[in-house]
Amino acid sequence: MPRYALITGASRGIGLALAEALARRGRSLILVARQRDALDSVACELTQRFGVEVLFRVCDLSNPLQLTGLLLELEQGERQIDLLVNNAGIGLSGSFLAHEWADEQQLLELNVLAMTRLCHSLGNSMVALGGGKILNVASLAGFQAGPWMSSYFASKAYVLHLSEGLREEFRDYGVTVSTLCPGPTRSALYRQAGIAEQRMRDSKRMLSAEEVALYAVRALDKNRAIIIPGWRTRLLSLLPRVLPRALLRRRVGRMNKAVIQR
Ligand SMILES: NC(=O)c1ccc[n+]([C@@H]2O[C@H](COP(=O)([O-])OP(=O)(O)OC[C@H]3O[C@@H](n4cnc5c(N)ncnc54)[C@H](OP(=O)(O)O)[C@@H]3O)[C@@H](O)[C@H]2O)c1
Repeated sequence: MPRYALITGASRGIGLALAEALARRGRSLILVARQRDALDSVACELTQRFGVEVLFRVCDLSNPLQLTGLLLELEQGERQIDLLVNNAGIGLSGSFLAHEWADEQQLLELNVLAMTRLCHSLGNSMVALGGGKILNVASLAGFQAGPWMSSYFASKAYVLHLSEGLREEFRDYGVTVSTLCPGPTRSALYRQAGIAEQRMRDSKRMLSAEEVALYAVRALDKNRAIIIPGWRTRLLSLLPRVLPRALLRRRVGRMNKAVIQR
């Protein structure tokens, strides 16, 4: 029976690039996102190019009922998933107090709760299978506080810390947990989050989603705990260890404020 990699947010950006990198290696895939048409065309293309089985499920992961439905289907179904890539995530920029609560809640449901439930449900299934791998997508943003994108940065700190904790907890069950922490990567996330990409410092030196995915898949093979593509991003991830917290959060806050679309 083939085993599958389940990738959330696989219709574009980093998730799509990860799907392609895994399909290239002959992996059978289950892709999850909200837009059926986008998933359908990605699935057809990957099947044609790489000859692998690519299934997809339409699910708004920020909707707890839809997520429950997906988990029930996966738990009761016969498909064995031995790689979970928790990639789907959204950003939100601007003043925390000025945001509609519904937007804050959607970010937390998707970036925090859905990825945690998927780790819980599929983590248990992997233990029953005798092993597996989980790759959670956090961010460089997970290493420090980020005023004017406070919930996004905090959600990524949660992903990073949860993943590191689970890595130790799951070790004895043969389930490995790795965390991908990309720096700024060219994708639709900036427009979605209300950020003017062209105003970002170093925007021309951003990595592509394909570069991030290739680096991630190779590091996953080596069972790296924390995967940070790009030497600039690796350097930046060290700043919280050397700079005073107050200095760093004010600096990051100024940078975030400067790129918010008005
Ligand atoms: N781009 C960066 O600079 C960067 C840097 C660090 C970390 N990251 C992280 O990388 C991950 C992917 O980001 P990206 O840049 O590739 O973003 P992206 O291009 O906007 O792609 C996001 C993906 O998530 C899906 N998605 C969004 N909301 C969803 C929902 N409620 N339920 C199910 N799927 C949903 C989207 O498809 P649908 O719209 O069809 O649902 C899409 O496939 C995120 O976790 C992000 O935080 C990105």
